[in-house]
Amino acid sequence: MQHFAIVTFGCQMNQHDSDRIAEVLRGAGLSQVPEPEAADFVLLNTCSVREKAEQKLRSEVGRLGVLKRERPGLVIGVAGCVAQQEGERLLKKLPQIDLMIGPDNIPELPALLADCEAGGPPRVRAEFDLAAPSFLAHNLAQGPALGSPSSAGRSTSAFVTVMKGCNERCSFCIVPYTRGPERYRPAREILEEIAQLTQVGVREVTLLGQTVNSYTDPSASFAPAAGERASDWQHTAHERARADESEFPELLHAIARRAPKLARLRYTSPHPHHLTRSLIRAHRELDVLSRHVHMPVQSGSDRILKRMIRRYTVAEYLERVTALQGAVPGLTLSTDIIVGFPGETRSDFEQTLDLVARAGFVGVFAFKYSERPFTPALKLGDDVPESEKSARLAELFEVSNAIRQRYLSSLEGSELSVLVEGRGKGGQWGGRSERNEIVHFSSPHELAGRLVQVRIVRANKNSLLGELAETVDALAPAEFAASVAEPMAAKPLRRLPLSPV
Ligand code: 5AD
Repeated sequence: MQHFAIVTFGCQMNQHDSDRIAEVLRGAGLSQVPEPEAADFVLLNTCSVREKAEQKLRSEVGRLGVLKRERPGLVIGVAGCVAQQEGERLLKKLPQIDLMIGPDNIPELPALLADCEAGGPPRVRAEFDLAAPSFLAHNLAQGPALGSPSSAGRSTSAFVTVMKGCNERCSFCIVPYTRGPERYRPAREILEEIAQLTQVGVREVTLLGQTVNSYTDPSASFAPAAGERASDWQHTAHERARADESEFPELLHAIARRAPKLARLRYTSPHPHHLTRSLIRAHRELDVLSRHVHMPVQSGSDRILKRMIRRYTVAEYLERVTALQGAVPGLTLSTDIIVGFPGETRSDFEQTLDLVARAGFVGVFAFKYSERPFTPALKLGDDVPESEKSARLAELFEVSNAIRQRYLSSLEGSELSVLVEGRGKGGQWGGRSERNEIVHFSSPHELAGRLVQVRIVRANKNSLLGELAETVDALAPAEFAASVAEPMAAKPLRRLPLSPV
């Protein structure tokens, strides 16, 4: 077996997993090819949060099955949430699959592949690593991945996992089932990985976790915060607010101390519960923290939030994000919303529209509710007709797009600090502002990985067009170049999804 290909479905977390899987396989001597047609081993890395993941998987496996008839040696594997969720059951339905591997079993992949090659029945490994959780880190000993340009080894921006699993029990969500209970990565490992990434030129880190801001260091390295933490919320009882505190703010401070070259620090996805006074203080104190936060709200109706088991009210959510925006002027918010949750009336939905306007979300990721296996909401039925869900989704996007457009237009004429990611198709440079807006501009200079000032001349639908507002010396090395061993691979631009992905 020589060549592998990975097909990734779903979110950033899954893309990050795919990149780490690729490193594990390369470490075992295989090389990556972009197309399944050229591979001996194809791994489908699945996501089951929203989409009818199994249907998608079926059609992909069907397509690969045709290849397999021509090349019986082709090994088909399934990783990620569907593997965890379905395991043996899926093997019975889709006999073309040779191996299934859950998110916590990735390091075992080379051994499983060797078993497959030796013949024998299909293999399933989908056990949570509860006793000794492990976290896949970037393997910086390997160069940038061929065919996987998003691999962060030599690019501007990288994801770093800080925790996995979820202890919340949101009634719509399959994640606690597919990713297991919360497990946290030791702070020293996180700090070490980030320090190493900045050594090879990474300038922006996004901390990843299903409820990233519930982070608590399992190795208890953080000194207890001095004195009582302030938790004087009007809409949250004192005891509850104290229980919401975590060590995430301490982690952010520790990262800022350990990686002073880091230009930007982001995190996703937080839970509103852990948007605590101390996290707000960290935002005020740490310049490296992005002035944009994605804070999923899911609904603007207290009745629906209760049925969703989100454990906060609209007033509580608003009080916390308003406090955050008060502490960090100009901070923007984006959110996730589900429309058509069981029992959602027109009036509930209108409260959601109202909240979107009040909170002024500059990005709304909205989804039609879909029933997921093993979730508590299954017993509520799925009573909002599909046509109504679609109509609500369209209405929500109309409202949120108008807010976004107004916001982007308000940036015309201003100067933004842009972290340059790479050149787009038309040869223009593209990057992200501090608040995560996509900015394009032209320059003949080599700017990948640099922070530059860009004057915004026009707001497009989902991005900004600007011109360089500073003189860049083409010959001057980038600020970090002294510590960069090899030139960075320019990263193709990510699209900011504004509609269901
Ligand atoms: N139906 C629709 N959307 C869902 N999400 C999670 N589960 C479901 C579901 N069953 C959405 C939530 C979450 C995002 C990652 O996906 O908005 O924040």
